Amino acid sequence: MSKTKLVSIVVVGLFIVIQLIPINQSNPPVVQEVSAPSNIQEILETSCYDCHSNESVWPWYSRIAPGSFLITRDVVEGRKHLNFSDFSGMDAFDSSDVADEMIEVLEAGEMPLLPYLLLHPSASLSDSQTRALLDWAQTLYPE
Ligand code: HEC
Repeated sequence: MSKTKLVSIVVVGLFIVIQLIPINQSNPPVVQEVSAPSNIQEILETSCYDCHSNESVWPWYSRIAPGSFLITRDVVEGRKHLNFSDFSGMDAFDSSDVADEMIEVLEAGEMPLLPYLLLHPSASLSDSQTRALLDWAQTLYPE
């Protein structure tokens, strides 16, 4: 067998084997959804919900390893930091924390994450959407 053929067989074999590694791409139940005005809700659903809610959409390519590992990690990490499906039990400290973090990432233009934007150009925030989210974040600070 030629070296090239052997290498191709190994690569294809590895590709198949990694598909068998279990990954948890579940959407847990919505506990208590964030309550935001409808224009804000729309932006959050379009640009943030895939990683920051329990209503993530998992497209076909998100199921194929090795990309699936990266996508799943972003969702797991994203939900850990901020989950718009679980705003239950937020005390004053939590709300101001969310407000602080929202303002920080929006001002830095860090969200949505770049790789995600390449696959979902429509999730990119316009200046006016960023402004609207920043104004909304201000309302999260306790009185
Ligand atoms: C592709 C998945 C993805 C999308 C889409 C996404 N995020 Fe994130 N987000 C993450 C991940 C992963 C983290 C945690 C790691 C990090 O900070 O990079 C995070 C962290 C955050 C944090 C916490 C930052 C901190 O300092 O702890 C905030 C706030 C946030 N995102 C807001 C948003 C908003 C608002 C949107 C929509 C405009 C959004 N994200 C879209 C994946 C995503």
